[in-house]
Amino acid sequence: MAASSRTLKSSQVVNISDLRRLAQARLPKSVFDYMDGGAEAEATLRENCRAFSDVLFRPRGAVAMGQCDLRTRVLGQEISMPLMLAPVGYSRLMHPEGELAAARAAGEAGTGYILSTISGHRLEDVKAASKGPVFYQLYLMGGRGAAEGALDRAKRAGFSGLVITVDTPVAGMRERDPRNGMKELMGGSPFAKLPFLSDILAHPGWLFGFLRDGGVPKLANVVLPGKGPMEMNDVAVALAESTVTWADLKWIRELWTGPIVVKGLLTGDDARRAVDEGAAAVVVSNHGGRQLDSVFPTLRALPEVVAAVNGQIEVLMDGGVRRGSDVVKALCLGARAVLIGRAYAFGLGAAGYVGVAKALEILRGDIERTIRLLGCPAMSVLNRQYVEVPANWQVH
Ligand SMILES: Cc1cc2nc3c(=O)[nH]c(=O)nc-3n(C[C@H](O)[C@H](O)[C@H](O)COP(=O)(O)O)c2cc1C
Repeated sequence: MAASSRTLKSSQVVNISDLRRLAQARLPKSVFDYMDGGAEAEATLRENCRAFSDVLFRPRGAVAMGQCDLRTRVLGQEISMPLMLAPVGYSRLMHPEGELAAARAAGEAGTGYILSTISGHRLEDVKAASKGPVFYQLYLMGGRGAAEGALDRAKRAGFSGLVITVDTPVAGMRERDPRNGMKELMGGSPFAKLPFLSDILAHPGWLFGFLRDGGVPKLANVVLPGKGPMEMNDVAVALAESTVTWADLKWIRELWTGPIVVKGLLTGDDARRAVDEGAAAVVVSNHGGRQLDSVFPTLRALPEVVAAVNGQIEVLMDGGVRRGSDVVKALCLGARAVLIGRAYAFGLGAAGYVGVAKALEILRGDIERTIRLLGCPAMSVLNRQYVEVPANWQVH
């Protein structure tokens, strides 16, 4: 895979917001808004980010630290820093390199990548693109037959674990998408596309790459028995028919012997249920504010889940992470590691592989600097003593 020819000047890209700005410039509004937007009033989308500023650091002075070791273990895999790449559907629309670029950049950075079911590149190729652990995120779209096929392929390809997303009983109402004609652009008739085409034509760089890549890709990893890969434009409908229940989890456990992660929980009760069902980890997540609006921001939900699982399984979190200091705050509140979604997707949309690599470089530098400034002798000893949490964040 050729790396993007675009280069990112360090004077232009200092933080994740800079990558967001570049992605906004390169992508058509419909694609950028799909990535950037959230559900309904976008209250949870905003709160996910804002909640990090409610937690304040309590640094220690005069602490020397030699090497800053950011390595940790997640699901039995060593990763070079406490963050991994979350599943991001339609990545191939953001850049033709899509999931291959994200997996490769994660591997080069020594960390893990979670491949979404809604992916345009074959899972075998994605696994081969990465030097690091790769996990498969399963939606039951296409029914159990399609899921069985994907799990069998993922097992053979050497995927390290399975992530089951449980917060999508239907697709959230992301209001930017219908306004931008996302459905019409993805699969509508040429006539239905017409009102939305001017914005696409105004982004020739993206359009050229998209057309050269063959247009809207099929879902390479949702192979309908007897029919072949599912069309992408069926996704909203398919998602509504692909709810994963606790009963499905039992069935999945029979097919998949490796670690299973339950993603999309916000309460202690659900986390305890995941423990009882044999999950190896949970991800405290509200889908980046894209599903039910007005739920708790994830950082605020984290302490309740950490207390509920009581060290029995690993707790990960995602939502709103845009800086390394956000990662450190989540670790202080008990997360083993975090997942990032938009932070790397902005990089992908801005410049493909180069952009994802840049996002990871920025966050790694941030995490190390924050731990040193905090006067913490080692990442492994980060805890509640290093932060001040608002009094009303008590555990229920
Ligand atoms: C564009 C986009 C697509 C996503 N697609 C999926 C998906 O296919 N499966 C899934 O489990 N989560 C999906 N998510 C949610 C992410 O895995 C993650 O929970 C979320 O992005 C975290 O919030 P953040 O973007 O603020 O980091 C998606 C998120 C975004 C932004």
